[in-house]
Amino acid sequence: MEKTFFMIKPDGVKRGLVGDVLARMEKRGFTFDQLQLVTPTKEQFDQHYYQLVDKPFYPGMMDYMMSGPILIGIISGYEVIESWRTMMGKTNPKEAAPGTIRSDFAQAPNDKGEMMNVVHGSDSRDSAKREIELWFGKEAAEEVK
Ligand code: TYD
Repeated sequence: MEKTFFMIKPDGVKRGLVGDVLARMEKRGFTFDQLQLVTPTKEQFDQHYYQLVDKPFYPGMMDYMMSGPILIGIISGYEVIESWRTMMGKTNPKEAAPGTIRSDFAQAPNDKGEMMNVVHGSDSRDSAKREIELWFGKEAAEEVK
């Protein structure tokens, strides 16, 4: 079984969407290995989003990501990395296909214009391993084949 890392971002937690998002995962046949509500530090997000820290949108994105607790987890399932990305939809909710989480649940950008897209999912096997190690430690990452 493949594994991936996911987040429900602060807008998803604040707006009471945790149950709806997790229900979609369960109905899709994914199982939960880990689930945790956390309030990360900026350093943790800098490590998680290391490829984006120099982007012009990064400071605004950090205001959004640090605006409240997030739910992090590991899910297992058949081709779960790609399947979860498909379920999330395109990065920008306005481009996400109807039926995807980002299309169905994301609301307007915040008052600073930052896109709030509700969920995250690792984009490859290597990212899943790296992100699982970052958030849940070496032992959890070793289970990623
Ligand atoms: P990215 O890894 O490109 O997308 P995804 O989350 O779909 O894997 O970007 C990570 C996050 O960075 C994205 O979810 C939201 C934020 N972001 C912006 O705020 N503005 C942007 O122009 C981009 C590309 C990303």
